Amino acid sequence: MYTLILNGSPRKNGDTVKLLNMITPQIRGKYKIINTFFEDISPCNDCRKCYTSNKCSIEDNMTEFYKYILDADNILLASPLHYSMLSGNLLNFISRFQYFFVSHNIRKDSTLNIKEKRGFLVLTGGGATKDFYPAEKIASLVLREINAKLVKILKYTITDKFPLNNFSSFEEKLKQKITQEVHDFTKTINGE
Ligand SMILES: Cc1cc2nc3c(=O)[nH]c(=O)nc-3n(C[C@H](O)[C@H](O)[C@H](O)COP(=O)(O)O)c2cc1C
Repeated sequence: MYTLILNGSPRKNGDTVKLLNMITPQIRGKYKIINTFFEDISPCNDCRKCYTSNKCSIEDNMTEFYKYILDADNILLASPLHYSMLSGNLLNFISRFQYFFVSHNIRKDSTLNIKEKRGFLVLTGGGATKDFYPAEKIASLVLREINAKLVKILKYTITDKFPLNNFSSFEEKLKQKITQEVHDFTKTINGE
């Protein structure tokens, strides 16, 4: 089993990364993380070359990442909540899934076999809105473009009061709650 993680947090040691650091040791099989903020990936510019060609007009590392996406059994999107949405850089990155949508629905390319996958979502937030629904909705929609159904969401909504950097000083009850949620989430990733 191969799990591809797309992390959209711009903070190298931020809350999303801390949560991923709790998840990844429990993942069975191979996993790979792409930190989308630090990758030089242009957003889809809707040039529509892929309507008639099986090559994206943008020449960047996405060509390699497309292969990872095709290989993956699980796709995990991870992001801080930015204005109730996935982070901008993650949205830029996943806009390039348009290539798969067009290949499947417009070019009707039967040679491109996008196998069924399971989708997962990790969100962190700690602002005033705490409205996660817009991010969840878009994640579910975008995952569908790569034939992934959103199976489970892990939300950590209190990074303002309890930043995960301070995990070791949290009271025991909160530590246990977070640990249990991470464990349950990862069990689902592992198909248990
Ligand atoms: C531009 C921006 C917008 C944000 N919008 C929200 C929001 O709408 N709701 C919320 O709960 N937190 C919001 N936050 C807070 C972050 O989601 C929160 O600090 C998050 O846990 C940071 O994760 P990270 O350390 O992985 O980047 C926002 C932060 C930024 C920088």
